[in-house]
Order: sequence, then structure tokens, then C-alpha cells
Amino acid sequence: MREIRVIGDPVLRTPAEPVADFDRDLRRLIDEMFEAMYAAEGVGLAGPQIGISRRLFVYDCSGRKGHVVNPVLTVDDAAEILDEEGCLSVPGRQTGRPLYAPTARAAGVSVAGFDRLGRPVRLKARGLLARCFQHETDHLDGTLYVDRLAKETRRKILLQTP
Ligand code: NI
Repeated sequence: MREIRVIGDPVLRTPAEPVADFDRDLRRLIDEMFEAMYAAEGVGLAGPQIGISRRLFVYDCSGRKGHVVNPVLTVDDAAEILDEEGCLSVPGRQTGRPLYAPTARAAGVSVAGFDRLGRPVRLKARGLLARCFQHETDHLDGTLYVDRLAKETRRKILLQTP
């Protein structure tokens, strides 16, 4: 089982490299990411979160499940929605469970990328799934949801991390 990296680990702050080879290793990696995500009861997981600095993520959110390799995010509806958001890589020191805070995200997005066989995929999402896609693509650029919080809220969250 792949270990989930926690805030403070430099890999979470490193912009990930594009995936170049759609080979068996990639397919195995995607399976391992699903395994790690489900074990941690997450709804999304990006490569850097298991120490793999590659541009891909998996998700199982709002009844939709899948993976996207080399995702490119487009905002379709820029209206800001404030809702509770957390991250497996930002756990509470005491609980080991994700810490949640109201985080502003665009209401609607599209993600274009590739599947595990290198076939193009394009997904449209609103609400929670749109939030998930924005959160996971952020991970690929070394950004964590806490970076998007108001200063005081961020401080409160960071005080509780390991
Ligand atoms: Ni996360």
C-alpha cells in the first residue's frame, strides 16, 4: 500500500511532470492510487500525494469515478462557491483525519486529458465534482487547498497539522 504524503513533504509543493508513457506501469500506478484513496476514505487523490510527481489523479465523487492523466482544467462557470473542503494530505495531528475549512471554488469546470490507454477524455462537472477536479489539479501544481483560505483560517488549520 502506498503511503499518503502529508503537508511538510516537499513532493506536495513540487509541480508534477507530465506522464509520458501510457504503459503497464501507469496502469499499475492508477490501480495503486485507487487502493490508497479508498483505504483512506478519500474522494480524490493526485500523484504527488503518494510521492509520485506525475500529472494524474483519481476520483470517486458524487457518484462519478475515474482517473485523468495530464489534466488541463478550464473554468466554465466562475461563480464562486464556498463549501467545506479537506485533503488527505492535510490531517489533524490528533485525529489523523482531514481538516476541513470553507474554501472558494468555481461552480463549473471542464477537465481535458487522457485515460490510462492514452485516449483523450473530457469531463464537465459542477458542484462537489467540480470542486474535486479543481482540488486535484491544484495538487499537480504544488498547491494545497489551505493556500486558498483566508489568512486567519489558514493559520488555524496549519496549527492543527503534524
Ligand atoms: Ni488533496
